[in-house]
Amino acid sequence: MQDEADLPPAVSPSPEEAAEPGGGRRTVFAALGAAAGLAGLTAGCAAPPLSAASSPALPGAPAPRGRLEGQSVLVTGAARGIGRAICLAAAREGADVLGFDIAGPASRHVGYAAATPADLAETERLVRALGRRFLPVQGDVRSRPALARAVDQAVGTFGKLDVVVANAGIMVPEGIAEVNDEGWRDVLDVNLTGTGNTFRAAIPAMSARRRGRMIAIASLLGRMGAPISPQYNASKWGVIGLVKSAALELGGRGITVNAVSPTGVNTTMLRNRRQYAAVTPRGFPGSVPDNLAAVASRNLHPLGVPWVEPEDVAAVVVFLASDEARYVSGASFDVTAGLGAITTA
Ligand SMILES: NC(=O)c1ccc[n+]([C@@H]2O[C@H](COP(=O)([O-])OP(=O)(O)OC[C@H]3O[C@@H](n4cnc5c(N)ncnc54)[C@H](O)[C@@H]3O)[C@@H](O)[C@H]2O)c1
Repeated sequence: MQDEADLPPAVSPSPEEAAEPGGGRRTVFAALGAAAGLAGLTAGCAAPPLSAASSPALPGAPAPRGRLEGQSVLVTGAARGIGRAICLAAAREGADVLGFDIAGPASRHVGYAAATPADLAETERLVRALGRRFLPVQGDVRSRPALARAVDQAVGTFGKLDVVVANAGIMVPEGIAEVNDEGWRDVLDVNLTGTGNTFRAAIPAMSARRRGRMIAIASLLGRMGAPISPQYNASKWGVIGLVKSAALELGGRGITVNAVSPTGVNTTMLRNRRQYAAVTPRGFPGSVPDNLAAVASRNLHPLGVPWVEPEDVAAVVVFLASDEARYVSGASFDVTAGLGAITTA
């Protein structure tokens, strides 16, 4: 959020822009790559808050049970953003949570501020305020042994592991012609291998009980091409392939495996100067013109929002973790405010 104040407010598109046939390749790609970042520059367009379940309790009625009551959930990338929202949504539904996060820089090629131990501590505070247990674990998803230890810790403390959410990820918005070996490797290692490590670490504990839910946070950019960060796209396409293959393999052990694929989400990963610059078309280096931001905002998402909120993603994760989704496996669920409709079936 740190650069928001530097960015220009959006204005309504001109009639010519509104009539641009097909939106124009450049505009569409810029907008898609922005994952609504440009669109998000428009003030006052934030998604409406999710409505809270608020039916009044009858006198003497038992307290309502959450959809994840008594479950044990491990979330990677738990310090902030989508990961924190997942921790809170799971806790609200009655789960205890182990939050795993590097809580520090994951790559020097990432152009936005890293999460901190204070961020992870804040997630812990918020989960505990909901009356649930929270185990903060600082570690890197590139280390499978570290994840295996975290699984042991969750099982040791909570008695089992019901759900694992592979959410940790990074974005390096550099094209294939400019990214160097290290930047390439960091993205693939964290986003794809990190997801594989998270799932693999959870298999023994889940297999033993013949029950488990594995959920990966992929991306709409894992279902389409965009010329912003090929390594990011490749990693997220890989995550969906991993999810589908693991679902086929692990179904016999009572484990479901699914992905959630969001459009741009209102987090630090999206809302930073480097991300905006990477999607600014040639001719506007280093700046984001108001009209492009407005066109992107208005035209990109059929539901008319610049991005979705972390809570929108967390709500789908809770569904996939719940009993209601017992026969849902091998699928990728869009949270794209309608934009995902542009991909093939
Ligand atoms: N924000 C978006 O627009 C968007 C869109 C689609 C998908 N996603 C995906 O959602 C997930 C969460 O992203 P976010 O927007 O909340 O980003 P974020 O940067 O706000 O949070 C990511 C968290 O992951 C942690 N992390 C990063 N590398 C790690 C590592 N190697 N080991 C352990 N933890 C690590 C970070 O410390 C941070 O707390 C990512 O997988 C991202 O690719 C984000």
